[in-house]
Amino acid sequence: MVTYMEQSFFKGEGIDSWNATMFLYNSALKEVKTKVEILNDEFQQVHQYNPIEYVKARLKSPESIVKKLKRHGMETSIDNMVNHIKDIAGIRIVCSFTDDIYRLAEMIGKQRDLTVVSVKDYIKNPKESGYKSYHMLVTVPIYMSDRIVDTKVEIQIRTIAMDFWASLEHKIYYKFEGNAPEYISKDLRECSEIVSMLDAKMLQLNEAILEAKAAQSER
Ligand code: GTP
Ligand code: MG
Repeated sequence: MVTYMEQSFFKGEGIDSWNATMFLYNSALKEVKTKVEILNDEFQQVHQYNPIEYVKARLKSPESIVKKLKRHGMETSIDNMVNHIKDIAGIRIVCSFTDDIYRLAEMIGKQRDLTVVSVKDYIKNPKESGYKSYHMLVTVPIYMSDRIVDTKVEIQIRTIAMDFWASLEHKIYYKFEGNAPEYISKDLRECSEIVSMLDAKMLQLNEAILEAKAAQSER
């Protein structure tokens, strides 16, 4: 799962404990992804409608883990990574409409075996960059043969438009290593406003369509 080069960053900690740790995160990722898919399927059954466009699950690469620990001025150790990096297991849920985001967040929060550790609503309070998304940090119990380990998963929920913005901004951020020229940052913030307008308009349009359909079937 990790090369010897990378493993040597985690001084004195064997490849076994690295693999055991990543095994937990990978299991947590699978658990949460399945839960989200079941919620979506159930919603489809009850309301004949899918709130989710798609779900992406990923494990943070060893390189990114090492980089992030360095950025935070921390030594690379499994303890530090487990205690200080929240997004080793990450799930991204992309929805069509903003109200789907809150609906899903509520359904996720109600899952009995998930514990919501924290929530950051960057839709109501966008970041300085213009970034918008709804973040939940949850833990899921992983049942091993001899113990149960609560494992963290970061869930990001956003609309297609927010996702489009975030992926472009991410590329630009990397191109300029975080120091994009001001006019580009300004354009990105403007685009973020347009994203909000588009999301609001699409939501309105969807509601109008539903109303028109309901009126039609009453006739
Ligand atoms: P990190 O930013 O991951 O160190 O943790 P944090 O405690 O600052 O959490 P935050 O909720 O700010 O960010 C978590 C994740 O959200 C990041 O890893 C990104 O995937 C995403 N994110 C946050 N801010 C931005 C942003 O300005 N642009 C983009 N494209 N993504 C962002
Ligand atoms: Mg951040």
